[in-house]
Amino acid sequence: MIYQIYPRSWADGNGDGVGDLPGITSRLPYLRDLGVDAVWLSPFYVSPQADAGYDVADYRDIDPIFGTLADADTLLATAHDLGLKVIVDLVPNHSSDEHAWFQAALAAGPGSAERERYWFRDGRGPDGDLPPNNWLCVFGGQAWTRVKNADGTDGQWYLHLFDPKQPDFNWDNPQVRAEFEDVLRFWLDRGVDGFRVDVANALIKEAGLPDWDEPLHILGDADGLEHDHHRKKPPMWDQDGVHEVYLAWRRILNSYNPIDTAGYSGDNDRILCAEAWVDSPERLSRYVRDDEMHQAFNFAFLQAQWRAGDLRDAVTMSLAASDSVGAPTTWVLSNHDVVRHASRLGLPVGAKRPNGIGIGDPLPDAALGLRRARAATALMLALPGSSYLYQGEELGLPDSTDMPDEVRQDPTWARSGHTERGRDGCRVPMPWEADRPSYGFGPADQTWLPQPASYAGLAVDRQAGVPGTTLELYRALLAIRRAHGLGAGSLSLLPGYSQDVVALVNESAAGARVVVITNLGVEPVAVPGGALSLVSSGPLTPQGLVPTDTTVWLTA
Ligand code: BGC
Repeated sequence: MIYQIYPRSWADGNGDGVGDLPGITSRLPYLRDLGVDAVWLSPFYVSPQADAGYDVADYRDIDPIFGTLADADTLLATAHDLGLKVIVDLVPNHSSDEHAWFQAALAAGPGSAERERYWFRDGRGPDGDLPPNNWLCVFGGQAWTRVKNADGTDGQWYLHLFDPKQPDFNWDNPQVRAEFEDVLRFWLDRGVDGFRVDVANALIKEAGLPDWDEPLHILGDADGLEHDHHRKKPPMWDQDGVHEVYLAWRRILNSYNPIDTAGYSGDNDRILCAEAWVDSPERLSRYVRDDEMHQAFNFAFLQAQWRAGDLRDAVTMSLAASDSVGAPTTWVLSNHDVVRHASRLGLPVGAKRPNGIGIGDPLPDAALGLRRARAATALMLALPGSSYLYQGEELGLPDSTDMPDEVRQDPTWARSGHTERGRDGCRVPMPWEADRPSYGFGPADQTWLPQPASYAGLAVDRQAGVPGTTLELYRALLAIRRAHGLGAGSLSLLPGYSQDVVALVNESAAGARVVVITNLGVEPVAVPGGALSLVSSGPLTPQGLVPTDTTVWLTA
């Protein structure tokens, strides 16, 4: 169980309205009590924050808004004392344009070794004033920006699959490879337990950078599984060459993971987890072959529509693909890039999922969204594999849908020409104590994004110890999952239920069976005779039936 902390929005220690490492450290006991095993921190490195820290200017230091290296050491030591592992975010596809190497590349000019570490190209057309190819950037607009020469004339273009302030590294260059291997060692030596690897599918580009006419989206195709797996592969995603990089990284991690003669690596496991937007579970499984990464985010469940068949397919296809390479599957419903699932699942089923929701947009049905979110989480946490939780989902937080557009900070909003609101709605600071300034986020009233009024009633102190709250549901699910070893169980479908029901059995190695029933149909459904309810995402009917949009766990 891995809990994602978005550092600017979890806890603010110094009252500047932005979360920081000392704030995180002070709140870590909450995560031990929640029952997770590890924390993944989104980037905290030195960064101009053009993409909230995914634009790194120095991979070996902490941005002053988050603290210092000493604060990172304290965080690590405190987490370890509490029995929590710490995974940090590594951003190898691109740096910030303020990184020393990019500044050196600008200064050194065309043809230089410094420019070889990025993708500099002459423009097309007689004056070179057309970009080198037609690639579009994920946040909107073209993926190339033209630089000026030292004498002020127009110069070459550089590639950025994301914001212009995030130039892509050229991973064909050995210096880039050596640099990141050193960065891995830097953080492993400091004691981190692993890395979440940002856009791990993007590092290698197809030779010749051929044109590609389609827009690029975060999480690949915005419509999830319903896409054509046979179309041509984008020249910037999932090139076979990326695997060489991860083979080398795995060798480095292995050197930190002593393995005993029985092949068991004890408590020393350090892991690599790929964020890779690929076409199919089979392509994803290539990232977690024996000698590559340990885990890869599996977005199929997140992208599935709220239909029993879609959820079943996501589960069975994901398990089959990861089983084929002997790796654990992962599950996730929310993160810092998507509308939170308590809001997403309150939107009409089958509709295209928005990239952010703002004033004037169709609004989710909040009560329906929360009910479905609780049922979806209870289904997810019954599945074997690792689950990733996103901060605040344990409170049932919805996206902020009423923030003024002027305060938005995701580059998507401006670069899409104000057509996509982007990801600020899921990045709003956490509510801890309803009656404190900034709902206990920090000592001051200000927060870098405004908190919606609805967050007061959802604050941790309003839910802790109160039966039936979403926080208590998560605590119960995590405790039962741990006690029954569900993460390492084996899963099968339970026959005899209608198409609108997801019915599964998770059987632990010790033989304990937990039956899981999620009812997406209109009619309440019966549970197997003699089965005892362990926990449910909402009340069962007085007759003990599972109502619509409810998940129950039972011992059978
Ligand atoms: C991260 C995003 C980020 C992008 C570029 C994604 O995978 O999750 O938040 O904008 O990579 O680094």
